[in-house]
Amino acid sequence: MIIVTANKLTKDYNSLRAVDNIDFEISKGEYFGFLGPNGAGKTTAMGIIHCFMPPTSGEVKVFGIDVTENPSHIKSRIGVMPQDNNLDPDLTVLENLIVYARYFDITKKESSPLSWELLDFIEMREKANIKIQKLSGGMKRRLLLARSLVNNPELLILDEPTTGLDPHSRHSVWKQLKQLKSKGITLILTTHYMEEAEKLCDRVAIMDSGKIVTVDTPSNLMNKYKGTLEDVYLKLTGRSLEG
Ligand SMILES: Nc1ncnc2c1ncn2[C@@H]1O[C@H](COP(=O)(O)OP(=O)(O)O)[C@@H](O)[C@H]1O
Ligand SMILES: [Mg+2]
Repeated sequence: MIIVTANKLTKDYNSLRAVDNIDFEISKGEYFGFLGPNGAGKTTAMGIIHCFMPPTSGEVKVFGIDVTENPSHIKSRIGVMPQDNNLDPDLTVLENLIVYARYFDITKKESSPLSWELLDFIEMREKANIKIQKLSGGMKRRLLLARSLVNNPELLILDEPTTGLDPHSRHSVWKQLKQLKSKGITLILTTHYMEEAEKLCDRVAIMDSGKIVTVDTPSNLMNKYKGTLEDVYLKLTGRSLEG
């Protein structure tokens, strides 16, 4: 079953073409990665999928529904982890989850046990009552991951889930994402880390200047270009991983 389809998707910000006529399809249960240097258009492409903004032209369907037709329905079935931390700094860890659950009309009675369950999932139960400012970068990313799961999404969209994390935190996020895969969730992520793409993604789309340069499984790409995923990326974009 196809979960996301993009046909000739284009997005302009005034005179800048951020996403340039791209096509892709993502199947149910698939882990799909967008790789590419800064400015490639990854966040923009994902923003259109999670109905944050409409396309300039072309068509995107999520769960078979056009993103411009019923965005609120699509949003109710998606979990999103933004590139930048937007946790509420005045609230505690637990309160951030409970307040977020309200957007999905989850009652207080349900949201409290659910939030504790999510804190257990990210191994942060003991941090429940501390303020966001006291969290490390890795803990904030993990909490954002937990928050993206409050509505039990069928599709999870993670924008650079582990950027800036220490190796330990990164590995713990990978472990959590692998657990979710066994439950059949579909994942779209962006990353700069080739190891992350190789470990997690069934297929990757390498993007550059708003275009998809190639889409394939990491192993097919490495065989085809005879090198590591990092070599493939350098060959296709001519750029370093730092963008
Ligand atoms: N809200 C915006 N207004 C104007 N330009 C933007 C906006 N968001 C992104 N851009 C530009 O669009 C291009 C693609 O950005 P983005 O989708 O964030 O790429 P990536 O996530 O791959 O780094 C960049 O040139 C960026 O500067
Ligand atoms: Mg981005």
